[in-house]
Amino acid sequence: MRPPGRAAWAPTPGHSSEWASGRVGAGRGLDHLDQRESFDQRESFAQRESFDQRGFDQRDQRESFDRRAVSTGSTSEDGSTRDGRSSGGGARSGATSGGAPNSGNAPAGGGLCMSANRGRRGTPADPARLAAFRTMRAITADDAYANLALAEHTTGLSPRDAAFATELVAGTCRSLGLYDAIVTSASGRELKTLQPAVVDLLRLGTHQLLELRVPSHAAISATVDLARAAVSDRVTGVVNAILRKVAALDADGWAARLRTERPDADALIARHPQWIIDALADVLPAEELDDALAADNVAPTPHLVVRPGLAEIAELGGEPLRWSPFGARAAGNPADVPAVAQGRAGVQDEGSQLVAWALARIDAPDGPWLDLCAGPGGKAALLAGLARDQGERLLAAELQPHRAALVARALAAYPQPRPLVIAADGTRPAWPPASFARVMLDAPCSGLGALRRRPESRWRRQPSDLDGLVPLQRALLRNAIAAAVPGGVIAYVTCSPHQRETVQVVEAADGVEVIDASSVLPEVPDAARGPYLQVWPHRHGTDAMFLALLRKTPSTQ
Ligand SMILES: C[S@@+](CC[C@H](N)C(=O)[O-])C[C@H]1O[C@@H](n2cnc3c(N)ncnc32)[C@H](O)[C@@H]1O
Repeated sequence: MRPPGRAAWAPTPGHSSEWASGRVGAGRGLDHLDQRESFDQRESFAQRESFDQRGFDQRDQRESFDRRAVSTGSTSEDGSTRDGRSSGGGARSGATSGGAPNSGNAPAGGGLCMSANRGRRGTPADPARLAAFRTMRAITADDAYANLALAEHTTGLSPRDAAFATELVAGTCRSLGLYDAIVTSASGRELKTLQPAVVDLLRLGTHQLLELRVPSHAAISATVDLARAAVSDRVTGVVNAILRKVAALDADGWAARLRTERPDADALIARHPQWIIDALADVLPAEELDDALAADNVAPTPHLVVRPGLAEIAELGGEPLRWSPFGARAAGNPADVPAVAQGRAGVQDEGSQLVAWALARIDAPDGPWLDLCAGPGGKAALLAGLARDQGERLLAAELQPHRAALVARALAAYPQPRPLVIAADGTRPAWPPASFARVMLDAPCSGLGALRRRPESRWRRQPSDLDGLVPLQRALLRNAIAAAVPGGVIAYVTCSPHQRETVQVVEAADGVEVIDASSVLPEVPDAARGPYLQVWPHRHGTDAMFLALLRKTPSTQ
């Protein structure tokens, strides 16, 4: 219920404009926003929980579908579909000879017995491999994120099995294009002629044979057992035969063979699609390219960050970060750190900490701060504390309501007057122009700078994705500039170094002057990219974050 007398500010029609923070108190310049109805955090969490519950219900339905599919026996002995059509067909089938995932158009378990862990001959499927296989099915068939799917499918495993399942999935996802090329070459057939579930088995088996150095007989027999237990007796022959051919060469042997067969062999061997290598080569000195690619292939140690004013670095336990004064390396499981469990600290890469720190550090007028694309709230949680230190208040906006709820949760430990959270479209401002002294625009982007932590994404992303992202980034930047007061500062940030979504977006912006961003963080070496800041996994041990700092010119409205 909106109390009477709250008509001073009305949201643009179509906005979900509830504030997530409860009643709004001080905060210069936010008074016109203080009139808003509060957005009850408990309600938002309850909504999220029921959303999650719906997710589980859908999975239950999917599993019953899978069991029905098994009983109808729709596959032939060689793992292809019985009617001869490619089981990898459909809009999302991906390619595979070129390196993209062969996702298939069936649900994650399509044709699988997801509940089975024992084959007809009674051979138990290894729990770690079974969990890895189920995770791969969720990733390649349902476009699940590897980390979320892994968390779901490794629940209940021993730490050792969970670690092995994680290595199987992360390593297989990272090398997906390479393994698809190897399996194609070894089998002499296009992957789309195989059941998608069989393709995932072969990918996992190939990883064990070529990268984990599991003895060949063990890798092959464990994968055949898994095929029998999780798919069907009928596909064991084809899995066995193809993996034996894969095992005939070692990793170097396969590299040499692929180089004679494919023009993109070197890119695949570096575990990247060629277009991503080209994008990195556009912005890096040639002599650094190999190091940059190699750094993408190593999972990072998580970094922790305090919510300023709520926790001390010493509470994080690990070694302090090199440049961010707010963070430390995680020494163990972040969830075991009391400050993290209590919401007084969180997990955040040092690169993200640095770009937030730069915005807080630069000279700017007094007044409220805006985080225009805040979900899930990592930067907002740091910015909120930095704003409080300066006697200011943060408004965090996010398009997706469920992600706005995550932002509210990330900010929940701050006492009143809390930072504010709003579900709103940043291209249709829910605030008057020229309202904010500092604006963070951490734009939706291709994520090419965070490939080390999302091993599956490099094969999912396509160059054409940028055709949709760049116009959105430009529109958001126009609105970020409009939201700033004259003389105010806008931070344009991407976790991608790609020229089109970084420098080219900023160069198209009007009404701003560019501030030398690397001079705002002089302690960070080798971070200047012209007047912008660019940190890198191979140089700085961070995600490849790009930062442009822009000051709104006084004449601009
Ligand atoms: C790169 S993420 C932001 C990450 C966040 N700053 C953090 O540190 O946790 C970009 C976010 O922008 C949101 N987004 C996309 N389009 C938007 C729009 N038109 N208005 C506001 N947010 C948008 C996405 O939902 C996504 O949560």
